[in-house]
Amino acid sequence: MNPHGGPAKCRTPSILDQSPTFIQPLTSITERLRLESFFARLQPLEIELGAGDGSFLVRYAQMCSERNFLAVERLLGRLRKLDRKGRRASLANLALLRIEAAYFIEYLLPPHCAQALHIYFPDPWPKKKHRKHRLINARFPEVARQALAPMGIVYLRTDDADYFAQMQEVFAAAEKDFKPVETPAELAAVVTDFEREFNAQGIPTRRAAYRLK
Ligand SMILES: C[S@@+](CC[C@H](N)C(=O)[O-])C[C@H]1O[C@@H](n2cnc3c(N)ncnc32)[C@H](O)[C@@H]1O
Repeated sequence: MNPHGGPAKCRTPSILDQSPTFIQPLTSITERLRLESFFARLQPLEIELGAGDGSFLVRYAQMCSERNFLAVERLLGRLRKLDRKGRRASLANLALLRIEAAYFIEYLLPPHCAQALHIYFPDPWPKKKHRKHRLINARFPEVARQALAPMGIVYLRTDDADYFAQMQEVFAAAEKDFKPVETPAELAAVVTDFEREFNAQGIPTRRAAYRLK
């Protein structure tokens, strides 16, 4: 019987019920993470900050099985959707972490461990008084420099003209460490969930990438 008195309904067990989750437990919020424990194989690591529902990362991780991918997202509901997509795709190179991205990259990520940082459609915080909350700010290039392996790349996309100008400004000010590069066409072709919606409304993607010198 179910709680309302009717006959209990049996849900057909799904293959996903048995496969382990990609969502990683956070064992400490003060010590740097042992990322090797997240993945079956040691491979070059790429990280998406603010991964949302994760269509981009799941597709890209399928295309690049010789790399590991870590999604960082603060909303559990979005992380769970991403988890289901990753399990349906039977990925072996994906890990998910629920944590605030700016704190994660500065305090929990081991230094110089990421080949790439993907930051797509980060919250634009359009009101002037809220701009201090933007992830890509004057400090970000230095934080990214610490996170990236030699020749590592930051990939950026946004729909927001003002935020895009700020992204370009802060990396121009860090020209000692970073130089602008093209986003490879095969990467640009993998769209994110927000990007698909914006593009369908006629709002174009603004894209930039910066490589460590
Ligand atoms: C506009 S959505 C974009 C999601 C995805 N990148 C895409 O393009 O479809 C921004 C995402 O970043 C997450 N987010 C925003 N600020 C964050 C933060 N400080 N730390 C972690 N995640 C954050 C939000 O929860 C949301 O899922």
